[in-house]
Amino acid sequence: MRSFITFEGIEGSGKTTQIQLLSVRLDRGGIEHILTREPGGTEVGNQIRRLLLDPANRDLSPLAELLLYQAARAQHLARIILPALAEEKLVLCDRYKDATRAYQGRGRYLPEDLVEQLNRFDLLALEPDLTLLFDLEPAAALARAQRRERTSSRDQNRFEQETLEFHGRVREAYLDLAKSYPRRIRVVDAAGSVDEVHQRTLALIGGAFPSLGLK
Ligand SMILES: Nc1ncnc2c1ncn2[C@@H]1O[C@H](COP(=O)(O)OP(=O)(O)OP(=O)(O)O)[C@@H](O)[C@H]1O
Ligand SMILES: [Mg+2]
Repeated sequence: MRSFITFEGIEGSGKTTQIQLLSVRLDRGGIEHILTREPGGTEVGNQIRRLLLDPANRDLSPLAELLLYQAARAQHLARIILPALAEEKLVLCDRYKDATRAYQGRGRYLPEDLVEQLNRFDLLALEPDLTLLFDLEPAAALARAQRRERTSSRDQNRFEQETLEFHGRVREAYLDLAKSYPRRIRVVDAAGSVDEVHQRTLALIGGAFPSLGLK
């Protein structure tokens, strides 16, 4: 099934947990799909990802940050997403353009029209068919991310080190995007257990794509 579904939300809201559970569920149903993420998805993209998330790079300018995200996206679209869609595959992507709108636009105060000009540029213009926005209070989401770091000896990334105020602004930007694109973006209440959120995810995706047989 040729469709492009993205998972969005602030750090620790549960995107990666939920996209992986969905992928397992699709595998069980024999539904072919690819699972990918931004920044990343390709070797070049993963090199850019390391640069963007490394807390040592606290000096990165907002414009440089925006252009690096778009560079990673250009590579990801050209090498992974567009070829998979051309083969009629279902593509699940952990973060995509709404993250750029929310973090680099509202979070870093870059002009919205600059972000949108790049987002509309021909080779970057693809928008998802459906976006799930995992919505959670920043304090709760960051507490989850911190627990993850403690239990997996992962380091905090550059964004997790930002203030609660920053994450609050990013969350509001995401919710505003959901109001601007009500057909494409569905808000998922990300509070509650992993399984509760998984059931909400299945209901939304199953409702939007009945042929997946998820309901
Ligand atoms: N519903 C939940 N309740 C409690 N803990 C959860 C829930 N969902 C995920 N977690 C845990 O919270 C942590 C963060 O979840 P996850 O990594 O999926 O978030 P994320 O949105 O992908 O974050 P990031 O933006 O940093 O990649 C993980 O340790 C995960 O196991
Ligand atoms: Mg994640």
